[in-house]
Amino acid sequence: MSLSKDKNWWRQAVVYQIYPRSFKDSNGDGLGDIKGITSKIDYLSSLSLDAVWLSPFYPSALVDGGYDVDDYRDVDPKLGSLADFDEMLSKLHAAGIRIFVDIVPNHSSNLHLWFKEAIAAEPGSAARNRYIFRDGKGASGELPPTDWPSHFAPSAWTHESKMGGKHNQWYCHLFAPEQPDWNWDNREIEEDFLKTLKFWADRGVDGFRIDVAHAMKKDLSEPLQSQPRYASHKELELANGTNVLFDRNEVHEVYKEWRKLFEQYDPPRVAVAEANVSAEGAVKYASTAELGQCFNFELLDANFIANEFKLIIDRALVNAKKAGSSTTWCLNNHDQMRPATKFGLLPTVDRVNWRNSNGTSSPLDEKLGTQSAVAGSMLIMALPGCTYIYQGEELGLHEVMDIPESEIQDPQYLRNHKIDKGRDGCRVPLPWTKTGSSFGFGDGGSHLPQPKHFGDYSIEVESADPSSPLSIFRKALALRKTLIAPEDMTWHETGDAQVLHFSRPNGWNCITNFGRNHYNFDGAGEVIHSSGPLGKAGDLPPATTVWLRSSL
Ligand code: GLC
Repeated sequence: MSLSKDKNWWRQAVVYQIYPRSFKDSNGDGLGDIKGITSKIDYLSSLSLDAVWLSPFYPSALVDGGYDVDDYRDVDPKLGSLADFDEMLSKLHAAGIRIFVDIVPNHSSNLHLWFKEAIAAEPGSAARNRYIFRDGKGASGELPPTDWPSHFAPSAWTHESKMGGKHNQWYCHLFAPEQPDWNWDNREIEEDFLKTLKFWADRGVDGFRIDVAHAMKKDLSEPLQSQPRYASHKELELANGTNVLFDRNEVHEVYKEWRKLFEQYDPPRVAVAEANVSAEGAVKYASTAELGQCFNFELLDANFIANEFKLIIDRALVNAKKAGSSTTWCLNNHDQMRPATKFGLLPTVDRVNWRNSNGTSSPLDEKLGTQSAVAGSMLIMALPGCTYIYQGEELGLHEVMDIPESEIQDPQYLRNHKIDKGRDGCRVPLPWTKTGSSFGFGDGGSHLPQPKHFGDYSIEVESADPSSPLSIFRKALALRKTLIAPEDMTWHETGDAQVLHFSRPNGWNCITNFGRNHYNFDGAGEVIHSSGPLGKAGDLPPATTVWLRSSL
């Protein structure tokens, strides 16, 4: 299969997120790797994907699952080599699947050559100016320079002595201390990232997912301003590009320059921003003059409630139009609780507290959760725009709630007073087979413990069951390719507040029953597929989506 030269291939693509450490281990060291991915291209093909997005696979001590990058232009030897990467890329392309790589521009790791140089260098030196080093406050500089917070630690400043520095300065990190922030006011950094983008684009990479894309540029004018907590989406909007730490006007200049680089390729390289801003704030990032797309994360927090979905869908479509882009739909990713679990909890349950109670503070309706998640996925697949699937979502995998504290890897837990158990529960390696060592993930165990029930959700078991989430996904994704329609949709009145019905311009209809009652769709069209068994004569059971073909 050859890749089309269509410049707009990405607008309604299906992109599958691979978390490389947890996908497939080819050498039995307990960590997933590049050759593991290459060995499973048949599986990826069976999902009728347009592209895969690989979370970071660069050399890293894995303090933050690889989002602590030692070298942006190499492959972690634990995961393979550049030659392995090239082989994977050419085999993916031969199978008609494109590839996005993750770019982490806000911070490197403390093991990056330039950070090692910075720590060894004098204050005020060019090496230190690649990062954000400052003198501390207090009589002898014993206090951090500002009150800025970090996602994974109380303060965004760490004294250099913690990293072996011999001077009395502090450096800035919005995430873990092992993730020092780059100084984006330094042209050398801007140029180095252009070099990184070019490095991967020249190798044939088709697109980029940009990590924390609303960060990078900070107000570094002296004296540094106070910013004791992160601004809300509303506050960022009101700040209009002038917040001290996020969503600054200058970051858009960076993306305009990246766009010029993307346009030098045929077809142009594409990008999607991970920007924690409001749906309206995302418009600039998604504009065709900048990255071209921005993740629409609103469904990540949604409950399985019709009106919540509808409001989010309407807002996202309006904003995508404003940006001249198409929107992205996702129910989860490597930072989020698995949707089968989210939707199996009562909407009133605080998900973080529930996770911290190891899932014991209130009951989980596992079956309802799985059904709702598959119904939700079939709904988003039918919408105009891109569908993102996070590995394991197609199996209806649940969050793993009982990872022993001693095995937790996530800095969100380890570096933050162990308040929030963090994100490891959705990063547990995939089960490929019903039995065997780590359920077929690899021969050497698994870097995060897999629960006993994982075998029942394995690709082997689900492939053999026509009613499994995997079989439903496979059929839906294959059909989606044939049903794809112009980027438009129309809502239809259902007379039931818990049922959403929309159609696409080619007569492709999607009806989802979010409620607890049955809904009758008799006469709305010919059934093409459903996320679960249907009743007789147009009966749509609760937590089910049906696709229909109607005459125009
Ligand atoms: C993004 C990633 C997350 C990571 C953080 C810091 O939000 O998705 O996994 O911890 O950036 O790089």
